[in-house]
Order: sequence, then structure tokens, then C-alpha cells
Amino acid sequence: MRVLVVGGAGYIGSHVCRALAARGDEPIVFDNFCSGHRHAVKWGELVEGDIRNPADIARALSVHSPDAVMHFAANIEVGSGETQPLDFWDNNVGGVINLLKEMQAANCRTLVFSSTCATYGIPETVPMTEDEPQAPINVYGRTKLAVETMLSDLARCGHIDYAALRYFNACGASPDGDIGEEHDPETHLIPNALKAAAGLGGKMKLFGTDYPTRDGTCIRDYIHVVDLADVHLRALDHLIAGRGSFACNVGTGDGFTVREVLDAIARVTGRPVPFEEHPRRAGDPPVLSANTARAKSLLGFEPQHSSIDEIVADAWRFHQKVWAAELAELANQEQMEIA
Ligand code: UFG
Repeated sequence: MRVLVVGGAGYIGSHVCRALAARGDEPIVFDNFCSGHRHAVKWGELVEGDIRNPADIARALSVHSPDAVMHFAANIEVGSGETQPLDFWDNNVGGVINLLKEMQAANCRTLVFSSTCATYGIPETVPMTEDEPQAPINVYGRTKLAVETMLSDLARCGHIDYAALRYFNACGASPDGDIGEEHDPETHLIPNALKAAAGLGGKMKLFGTDYPTRDGTCIRDYIHVVDLADVHLRALDHLIAGRGSFACNVGTGDGFTVREVLDAIARVTGRPVPFEEHPRRAGDPPVLSANTARAKSLLGFEPQHSSIDEIVADAWRFHQKVWAAELAELANQEQMEIA
């Protein structure tokens, strides 16, 4: 199968390209490199382009005639959405409208779409099933819900087949340390905590210690990016086999507090995470975790790599590579201080 991976140079997109290539499919990376990385384009050809420019999409579709499209090219930083909402609507919704129009013109009707647990907002019940009311509390979640609504309309009219995968907390890296999470600015817990543990960038800020959870910090459902990639392939196969459009949670069903993640980092890396306690970060729900029954029954999906220790070990291996120069410099300084 040939698959156009829109946002294929980004964190999750590049892992999906790796997984597609590993099983003999042909990924084609489409990316504008606003946040993706050229060094993450290792599998398949590259089309440099922007989904806000319909001609770029038309060119990619006509040159490569993909059997399906996967879409990852979205603004994801929740805080930026609150200050730049039009950018989020333009790229996350306008970009997908362009993509769907061009797919229709090119007779390509299969789309796997990156959605998010942020479409639920603050859940009434956890673990959350897909029937949990979708009431997002930020611009990011609202743009993703808008696309889900649009996709469901198009599918009902028989125009497309789609999967909307509602990710919980994506984390980890490829086990060979080749590709991983590199956002700028980085807002996610595990890379920020690893950086602090490595002695780079000072203490980590721990946001919120007065949540109604077992240790006062937020609980999240952390899923390894390699498992996430696997679920994309399963979703693609499901659609291509004609088994119908769907939306589905992608998590593990387990939840860890922030303090438990910091403990795992100390255990796996042998380095405690220096942190300081801060007030709650705006928009953080206390607990998010997935009911995973639908992913299992519909796609046969069960996470294989998402123990918290495996996640941290893989992320740490990757970040040690990325930070090699800074870590060597730090070790040098420490040697000089000892001498
Ligand atoms: N946290 C810290 N310090 C940090 C970073 C995070 O204490 O430096 C805390 C957060 O407050 C939160 C937990 O760690 O309690 C997890 O935070 P992340 O930023 O790693 O992840 P989020 O749960 O906020 O975000 C994820 C996805 C988003 C999605 C959101 C839905 O990354 O794309 O879930 O709620 F929108």
C-alpha cells in the first residue's frame, strides 16, 4: 500500500512511517517542517508542502496516487491555541478541509485522522469510553472535535472512510534511539523531566499538587509511540478491508500520577528528577485514562510496549543521543571541578 503521511516528519508521523516501511508498505512523507524534523524523514519519499496550500496537496496526490492518507500535521500545543486560536482553526480545520477536497478530486477516500482525548474535556467518568460526552475545554480540543464532526458527516454521505484515533498521552521513542519526541518549546512531562534528571535546564516545574488524586498530582494514561504506530496500521487495514468508519480511544487503561512518572525516571535512569512545585497549569483535567475495550474488539489492539519503565527507558536512550554534546560538556565540567 502507498500511504501519504501528512506530517510524516513529526513525532508520531515519523514512527508511523517507520512501521509502514517495516511491514513493506510505502510511506510518502508530506511536511512543511514547521515543527517536523528533516532527520526524521528516513522512510519513503518526501514531498515538501503545506496543507494550507491546496496546490501542494494536489501535487502530492497526483504524483504518488496513494491508497490512503494519514493526517498528523496539526498545531498541538494547548497553550498556544489559547493565544493564537485563528492559527489553530486555519491549520487544524482549514488544512483538513483542503486535504479532503483534494482527496475527493483525486479519488482517494481513506483517511486515518489523529484525534485526541482533549475532545472530551473534563470527563464525567474515568476510564473514559468513546461515549463520554465530547466537551473540549480548549481551542486545540475544539478544532479536533470540529474535524471529527466533519468526518462523520462525510462518511454518512458515503464520501469517505475514516478512523479518528483519540490519543491519550503519546510518549517514548523508537527502541533503537533513532527517532523520538523533539518539540520546541517542549511542554510534555517526560522529556522535561528527563532533561532535569540529566542536569540540563534546571529543575522541572511540577504543576499542581492539590488535585483529588492519590498523591495530589494529575493522572494520565501514557502510551508508547510504537504502540500508537501499531494502532494506525490496524486502523488503516480495517478501513481498506471495508469494515467501516469509526472513532476510538488509544490508551492503555492505566494511569500514573506525575510523581509516579518521576519515580519511574529515577528508577530507570538512576538519576532523581530535581523539581519544584508550582500551582496548577490552566486547563489540566485531574484524571484522564482510556477505556480500551473498543480498540481491542474492533482492531485487536493491545499495547505491547507501554509499561512506564519501557517508555522511560526508550525516551531516555533517544534523549541521551539528542543531548550528547551537552551531556559531554557537563561531564567535562564535573571532571574539572573534581580536579
Ligand atoms: N507536567 C508538569 N510539568 C511539566 C510538564 C507537564 O508537571 O513540565 C504535568 C502536567 O501538568 C500534567 C502532566 O504532567 O499534569 C502531563 O502533562 P503533558 O503536558 O505531558 O501532557 P497533557 O496531558 O497535558 O497533554 C496531552 C497531549 C495533548 C492533549 C492533552 C489532552 O500531549 O496534546 O493530553 O488533555 F491535548
